[in-house]
Amino acid sequence: MSPPVALDDSYIPVAVATLIPATATPFSLFLRDDARYRLFRDANFPFDVEDRDRLLQNGVTRLYVTNGNLDRYKSYLRTQLDGLLADETLPPCERLGGLNEVVRNVLQEDFACGDSARIVNSAKTLAEQTVQAICNTDAVASDLFSVMHHDYQTFTHSANVTYLSVFLASQLGLAVDDLPQIAAGALLHDLGKLQISDRILNKNGSLDVSELAVIKRHPTAGFEVLCKRSDLSWGQLMMVYQHHEDWQGGGYPVGSVGAEIHLWARICTVADVFEALTANRPYRKGMPRSEALGLMRGRMKDRFEPEILQCFHTAIQPS
Ligand SMILES: [Fe+2]
Repeated sequence: MSPPVALDDSYIPVAVATLIPATATPFSLFLRDDARYRLFRDANFPFDVEDRDRLLQNGVTRLYVTNGNLDRYKSYLRTQLDGLLADETLPPCERLGGLNEVVRNVLQEDFACGDSARIVNSAKTLAEQTVQAICNTDAVASDLFSVMHHDYQTFTHSANVTYLSVFLASQLGLAVDDLPQIAAGALLHDLGKLQISDRILNKNGSLDVSELAVIKRHPTAGFEVLCKRSDLSWGQLMMVYQHHEDWQGGGYPVGSVGAEIHLWARICTVADVFEALTANRPYRKGMPRSEALGLMRGRMKDRFEPEILQCFHTAIQPS
């Protein structure tokens, strides 16, 4: 056995669910115990079904790769995702887990480079795979919640809002053909935040008037970038532009009311607020889901179309 490696920040967690059994990974995998990383599988040594099941039975949902192998892991993920989504022997949560790792990795890279054309192209590809993972696997809300990360980063938020939006749209009975468009719109909904500095986005404490104005410009900023493209639909553009409008008025950027707000944007708003309330921030822990839902059905209720909120409430109740 290789000697234990001291804990440091050069190891990156990867979900066990993203590792395809019976394939060799082109990177070494490490286990973490209290204070050490230990080699679990050397590169190019097959990771089999028994390995995966034993880990999951023992509650181990994360292994680690070295920072130097992160690019290899990402490229492995992209090539394996289609196979993982098509593997009907895997439960929905594992397929969703794999999808989530890919979506977050791709968005993280694309958002960091800030190229909107690259982000739109990725969003379209990921949207198809997201709908497949959520709608073709009989996934339920608890499957979704089991794979979602809850950090405050925009790419994590965008991924989570996408899963919740697709799930909600599907529960509302929207046309199956619309779902990939809704998924891509949700992946792009906060694109305008790329123009806002991290200092303001992650500020610990209340925002001053000018900082608030900067934040409130992000739907318009995202719309301005995306409306020049001919490959996005009106509904997708409205998800970007109107996801902070409130059903009873008083939202931004223009204070649209009721049916003036596109249905897909109304769906995105419910998913967006729920995700924002339950996500951890650098300065506070996210709310429990029941508390967030209570707040949305109580003090915040005027922000949402009642039927959509009711459907969301029903859909995420534990079965
Ligand atoms: Fe937003």
